[in-house]
Amino acid sequence: MNMKGGVGKTTLAVNISHILNKEFGHRVLTIDIDPQFNATQLIFPKNDWIHILREEIHTSLRIYLDDDFESIRINDKLINAVPFSKIETKAVERNWHFLAGSLNLYKIELNYFKILKFKLKEYMDYLRAERKYDYVIIDTPPTPSSWMRSAIIASDYYLMPVKPDAVSVMGVPLLMRLIRELKQQENESSIECLGLVYNMYENLKDHNQQIELLKNNDRLGLYIFENKLKKRANIAAISHNNNFAADRMIYNCGSQDARNEIIAITNELKKRISYDRK
Ligand SMILES: Nc1ncnc2c1ncn2[C@@H]1O[C@H](COP(=O)(O)OP(=O)(O)OP(=O)(O)O)[C@@H](O)[C@H]1O
Ligand SMILES: [Mg+2]
Repeated sequence: MNMKGGVGKTTLAVNISHILNKEFGHRVLTIDIDPQFNATQLIFPKNDWIHILREEIHTSLRIYLDDDFESIRINDKLINAVPFSKIETKAVERNWHFLAGSLNLYKIELNYFKILKFKLKEYMDYLRAERKYDYVIIDTPPTPSSWMRSAIIASDYYLMPVKPDAVSVMGVPLLMRLIRELKQQENESSIECLGLVYNMYENLKDHNQQIELLKNNDRLGLYIFENKLKKRANIAAISHNNNFAADRMIYNCGSQDARNEIIAITNELKKRISYDRK
């Protein structure tokens, strides 16, 4: 999570999911709750995501519909609430499943604001009881919204990707305070910060200064990941024309260093969780 746009939330959510599955053999579900659906566009070729969005199949919208609601009309089709067990996730790879984002999330936000914030947690409780996945990774939109709130209620942990420039670093205490406040408002939430991970790092004076500044800020009580993801042309140039999701992942972007970095970040994230569980 980060309120700053374009810091790599989606890139990390998708690629950490990929590594958890590919490198560590975990069963992973990735959920895109961003109405802008960037994660969906990163994972699927255009024809596929257009189909997913048009038909509203395999989308996270399904989680938020409630039996008490009237059905919602989308593209002249009535979309009914279904039980959680009937929500169809889309397989990206074996044991890596996905629920897509949807522009129509805006629609239910406007109509059903009060109830929807608990639905994601209810779905998570359902998944936990079913023991379907080892990890569920949620990609959130940048702005505080009912989607972000639902993710805070539903999650055990959040990860904060930060670009180490002055503007992004300024947002760090702000985000931490916002989440603390939301957590206090929502009694149901037990979310903890897993830490800050630097993305798009460059060996620049400004970046190194910002990193030093945060390192020495004890008041935040923030864990900072030892592993960073550097800014790399190979990552920015990942082609959305590739037909297979695997070819759009950092793991296969052609840079061995980038691959090592994303694996190291994922490994560190796993360690942080198991340390917390002890
Ligand atoms: N390490 C990196 N090196 C180069 N480009 C990167 C790197 N990480 C992310 N990018 C690129 O930066 C852009 C923004 O990344 P991303 O969409 O992950 O950010 P975001 O925080 O999810 O944005 P938003 O707030 O809009 O949801 C993308 O085009 C992505 O390919
Ligand atoms: Mg994003």
